[in-house]
Amino acid sequence: MGQRPPLTPDFYHYPEASIATVEISINKDALAVSWSDGTQLSCYYLWLQENDVSNGRVDHATREGLIDPADLDVELTLSSASVDPLGHLLVIWNNADTSRFHSGWLRHIAEGQHQPAAFLPQPSAWTATRLPAPPSHSVDHLFTSYENTAAWTLDLLKYGVTKLTDAPTASGYLKHLAAQIGPVRDSNFGALWDVKSEPAFAGKNDTNSTANTSHRLGPHTDLPTRETPPGFQFLHCLCNEAEGGFSTLCDSLAIIDHLAQAAPDLLEALTTLQWIFFNRGPALDHRWSGPIIDYTPGSIIPTIRAFYPVKAFPNMDDNDIPRAYEALRHFQTLAADPRFQIRFQLEAGDILCFDNRRILHGRDAFNQAQTRHLQGIYIDRDEIYSLARVTQRRATATLINTRN
Ligand SMILES: [Fe+2]
Repeated sequence: MGQRPPLTPDFYHYPEASIATVEISINKDALAVSWSDGTQLSCYYLWLQENDVSNGRVDHATREGLIDPADLDVELTLSSASVDPLGHLLVIWNNADTSRFHSGWLRHIAEGQHQPAAFLPQPSAWTATRLPAPPSHSVDHLFTSYENTAAWTLDLLKYGVTKLTDAPTASGYLKHLAAQIGPVRDSNFGALWDVKSEPAFAGKNDTNSTANTSHRLGPHTDLPTRETPPGFQFLHCLCNEAEGGFSTLCDSLAIIDHLAQAAPDLLEALTTLQWIFFNRGPALDHRWSGPIIDYTPGSIIPTIRAFYPVKAFPNMDDNDIPRAYEALRHFQTLAADPRFQIRFQLEAGDILCFDNRRILHGRDAFNQAQTRHLQGIYIDRDEIYSLARVTQRRATATLINTRN
């Protein structure tokens, strides 16, 4: 036991938070840590073993646990617990081994900073009145400081959408941008895909997607045919000389709020009655069954499954089909209602970023005698959440990632 603070089972630096008292439970399988402001944390003895860096139960190089749960020592119980001179937790086990646990690390758990939602903003449902245009950030400044990256990701997660401006109009630029964000989510449309309509293609029917025509695309989310549809979608405008073709967005969270008040029976149908979605082709057969508003367990916000070209079958009792269609029609009508939907023209050099599982996107029909070329990639929510947490922590300078 030295004068240095104990190592933590991760690479973050935690401000010290001196513990006031420690009390072991009667059967010696848990202890309660308390701070002077009344905050408490209960620590089960096997959980303490798993996170014990002092006695080689956590690898020093990776800071990952080394104990297979099958090998946890249930006979190794707590003998005594106290606060060391630096304010950290000192445990003596019944085999006389000692362990120290960092007060700040324990405190961050007591405060819930270990939860997936920590360091992320609460989503803020928006209507066309609340958010007439996507929050705008210049790509020139996006990665010049942690503060700028944090500000962008916070907007992106709060509203589910941002517009990046001043991007080069070079084909493939999104790959360069993605390299600074996280791994790209690939699909059968390719890691980088084109949404392109040119006069040369007018009248030809050689595309594999409605997106590559000049037709209107109603409010939708991409790839509901997957168990987990792609998280964030990045649409880079390389060229837009077409009349019309306004982009549309609407926030499903605002529609859900509205339905909860105005039509809870329809909301219930949308969240419980399942539809089968599929993409079928000569060499692929993707299918998934889920409700239109899919509250996948553990997710902060629901996954909206809404793309009528690939919605194939009602997967419900026959008696439920009429109300399922009524709810679906109402949902799609609201998604295109000017109260909820914003419309704007993408310009060359713009990159629209949005949560594909939350925000319904679409576009008006346009004149196919003129060129419109977008490129897209997907990056899953996990990557954006991770970037937001890392940059938020670094921007606030409270925690520093170090391997030393
Ligand atoms: Fe789409």
